[in-house]
Amino acid sequence: MEARVGKAVIELLQGDITEQDTDAIVNAANRTLLGGGGVDGAIHRAAGPQLLAECRTLGGCETGGAKITRGYKLKAKHVIHTVGPIYHAAGKKAPELLASCYQRSLEVASANKLTSIAFPSISTGAYGYPLEEAAPVALKAVLDYLKSHSDIQRVSFVLFGKDAYQAYQEALRDLWPSESKSN
Ligand code: APR
Repeated sequence: MEARVGKAVIELLQGDITEQDTDAIVNAANRTLLGGGGVDGAIHRAAGPQLLAECRTLGGCETGGAKITRGYKLKAKHVIHTVGPIYHAAGKKAPELLASCYQRSLEVASANKLTSIAFPSISTGAYGYPLEEAAPVALKAVLDYLKSHSDIQRVSFVLFGKDAYQAYQEALRDLWPSESKSN
């Protein structure tokens, strides 16, 4: 499924983010940036040990922030590491912190002249953010950024499983009914 914002395309895909051949894939990391399970573990496994070696030089990352590294053995040229909110700990700040992950990742992509970026569903695994609450926050943050930045040409959401895909599909339909076309 995809929607168009000006010349940019937002697409929803069901699959494995480590397979994506985009300028950057986004990692749902933790504040140490020293690896973990879930998508973090998958990206480090696919990129190889040099990714961790570079992450060690970054001095961690705050929740809602984003930092860039090379992609090493990944098809993607870069990894943008962001740290999502832990849903129960973040309380009322959870939506703004989650939106910040997408916003700051896109800002890092623009600053590095990247035009295509793939996001996982940040915070909706170990960090416990309910999919149906996270999806509209994530999509709105990306739509708002694309409306005011024409440099980014493609944003993919790579969803790991049917439930996640359907949650984002529904949220995209609600947010962007006229623009989204299913395929
Ligand atoms: N490709 C795409 N999405 C994936 C993949 C993959 N290969 N593997 C997992 N996911 C999905 C999960 O199904 C979930 O929807 O990524 C989403 C985020 O889940 P987590 O990876 O658990 O990330 P998060 O909830 O942000 O928790 C981050 O978990 O792995 C640790 O080090 C990480 O401490 C950090 C925490």
